[in-house]
Amino acid sequence: MFTLNLHLYTFLLLLLLLSSTATAATQPPYTPTDHFLLNCGSTTNSTSSDGRNWDGDTHSKFSPSTTTTTTTTTTSTNPSGAGVPFTTARIFHSPFTYTFPVSPGPKFLRLYFNPATPNFSTSFFSVTAGQHSLLTNFSAFLAESPPLSNLVKEYFLNVKNTPKLDVTICPSPNSFAFLNGIEIVSIPEGFYVRNENVDHIPLVGQNTFFEIDNNTSFETLYRLNVGGNYVPATGDTGMFREWYQDDDYIYGAALGLLVHRNVPIEYTSETPNYSAPETVYTTTRTMGNLSLFYNLTWLFPVDAGFYYLVRLYFCEIQLEVTKENQRMFRIFINNQTAEEEADVIAWSGGTGIPVFKDYVVQVVDTDGRRSKRYLWLAMHPNLETGSQYGNAILNGLEIFKLNNSDGSLAGRNPDSQSIKPPPYRASPEKGKSKAFLVIVAVTGGVIGGIALLSILGILVLRRRRRGKNSKVKQAVQLDLQVFR
Ligand SMILES: *[C@@H]1O[C@H](CO)[C@@H](O)[C@H](O)[C@H]1NC(C)=O
Ligand SMILES: *[C@@H]1O[C@H](CO)[C@@H](O)[C@H](O)[C@H]1NC(C)=O
Ligand SMILES: *[C@@H]1O[C@H](CO)[C@@H](O)[C@H](O)[C@H]1NC(C)=O
Ligand SMILES: *[C@@H]1O[C@H](CO)[C@@H](O)[C@H](O)[C@H]1NC(C)=O
Ligand SMILES: *[C@@H]1O[C@H](CO)[C@@H](O)[C@H](O)[C@H]1NC(C)=O
Ligand SMILES: *[C@@H]1O[C@H](CO)[C@@H](O)[C@H](O)[C@H]1NC(C)=O
Ligand SMILES: *[C@@H]1O[C@H](CO)[C@@H](O)[C@H](O)[C@H]1NC(C)=O
Ligand SMILES: *[C@@H]1O[C@H](CO)[C@@H](O)[C@H](O)[C@H]1NC(C)=O
Ligand SMILES: *[C@@H]1O[C@H](CO)[C@@H](O)[C@H](O)[C@H]1NC(C)=O
Ligand SMILES: *[C@@H]1O[C@H](CO)[C@@H](O)[C@H](O)[C@H]1NC(C)=O
Repeated sequence: MFTLNLHLYTFLLLLLLLSSTATAATQPPYTPTDHFLLNCGSTTNSTSSDGRNWDGDTHSKFSPSTTTTTTTTTTSTNPSGAGVPFTTARIFHSPFTYTFPVSPGPKFLRLYFNPATPNFSTSFFSVTAGQHSLLTNFSAFLAESPPLSNLVKEYFLNVKNTPKLDVTICPSPNSFAFLNGIEIVSIPEGFYVRNENVDHIPLVGQNTFFEIDNNTSFETLYRLNVGGNYVPATGDTGMFREWYQDDDYIYGAALGLLVHRNVPIEYTSETPNYSAPETVYTTTRTMGNLSLFYNLTWLFPVDAGFYYLVRLYFCEIQLEVTKENQRMFRIFINNQTAEEEADVIAWSGGTGIPVFKDYVVQVVDTDGRRSKRYLWLAMHPNLETGSQYGNAILNGLEIFKLNNSDGSLAGRNPDSQSIKPPPYRASPEKGKSKAFLVIVAVTGGVIGGIALLSILGILVLRRRRRGKNSKVKQAVQLDLQVFR
């Protein structure tokens, strides 16, 4: 009888949990005014594995005539990423325009590619949207190495007075173009660009502000749930953004400490409930005991020759930090001070109140080759104000490339010498090793410095086995010497 009751109780609890997540899923904080999901090369409507409905683009009202194109069913080499819309593609032998009827305002445009299809390695093409050149002589096959079967490129566009958005795809000479899917979803006004005319964002290292006017488009390069787990498009607040784990971007061995606490999140008018999923705010990475001896650092490969918008999300969730000047830290972007006295409680007003901060940084193309560079983000405690805890935190981040003065966002195809870009990819499943690291990191927090050292050891092994690139490996060895 007792066990039966217990089971019943567990069952009810599960039911409660399920129903609460179910209502959360059906009632996201933001409902987009426009949302189009187009499955290119498909004649029928279909549902992707996350339950979203995609319209086939054959005879679609958005693609007036598909007579100059052909379609193909792709065979994917990666079973985890092989679902809709990656299983069918439309192939273009001449320029082609999709026209979407949209309301004015900011939108995300997402382009879906599966270049891991026989013969697609020879495809080079350009894509424009409105007045912006998004991709020029682009190879989806070369974009990642090895090629992804589920490559997603995301753009922020501001649709002005016209009630439509044209997306034109144009093959390079003697080549062809292909597309697997297109998504357009509206974004709340005033969220990514806060002023409808010109937004003034601190320009890091130059003691001035950068003007983002309402003609500027972005490309999303990174969107991370720092210290937390992958969040799928359907787990977002209604904009269908994907949030990735941050540990692949941590520089060196100093991983810091992961903290997760389910405090109720109190949204504000500056940081509304659609800004980020709750889990972004309830998980964080801090520096741990050895904070004074290192910088908590992330590295992000970016194209030289562009400005970048860096948005950092913060929320104090730890019990011990409730007052101003308890946790004060410095934020460096590309080794320049972006923030001398970062104090999340002072910014937000209290525990569980989220806040985000924007910075623009210029990545100069010093050799004129438009090659990849690392964008550095680093944090270090600032004890000069008498701050109680020598520590720093970060909950989430986004990095966007801003179009250049020609209106273009296009980079170069990576060559073999350039550094490897960590992908903005659609398949998050990395499995056990991550979970293991999380557990170790949390244990490290409980038993202190010695455990942290063993985390360093584990990380060194992990990095070496992956052999990502020599720069990171050298850094790992260096850091270890410092800690010993
Ligand atoms: C989000 O905030 C808005 C405005 O404060 C409110 O009307 C809405 O109910 C909230 N949605 C959720 C899911 O919390
Ligand atoms: C596909 O769905 C759209 C609405 O999303 C509908 O207008 C269209 O008729 C459907 N097409 C087919 C072939 O079922
Ligand atoms: C792929 O390329 C091979 C040889 O270049 C050709 O025989 C074949 O028809 C091509 N397949 C498709 C689907 O274009
Ligand atoms: C397109 O890129 C490829 C590889 O980067 C290059 O070989 C080719 O010359 C480029 N074509 C044009 C038209 O720029
Ligand atoms: C864009 O900004 C200009 C001035 O910088 C302003 O006149 C115009 O109304 C703005 N357009 C929109 C659609 O907000
Ligand atoms: C935006 O672009 C349009 C034409 O493309 C131009 O007339 C307008 O002045 C631009 N607005 C700003 C704020 O640069
Ligand atoms: C930042 O400093 C490190 C050395 O501390 C250096 O290796 C790196 O190239 C610098 N990064 C930038 C973007 O200047
Ligand atoms: C942290 O980064 C800043 C800016 O690059 C640098 O000046 C400082 O020496 C670094 N501190 C440590 C402990 O590495
Ligand atoms: C982006 O391109 C538009 C023209 O399409 C231009 O008005 C705007 O100033 C550019 N933005 C930046 C940051 O250069
Ligand atoms: C390390 O942190 C733990 C709690 O997280 C604390 O009990 C311990 O005293 C700290 N050790 C040092 C050397 O600061």
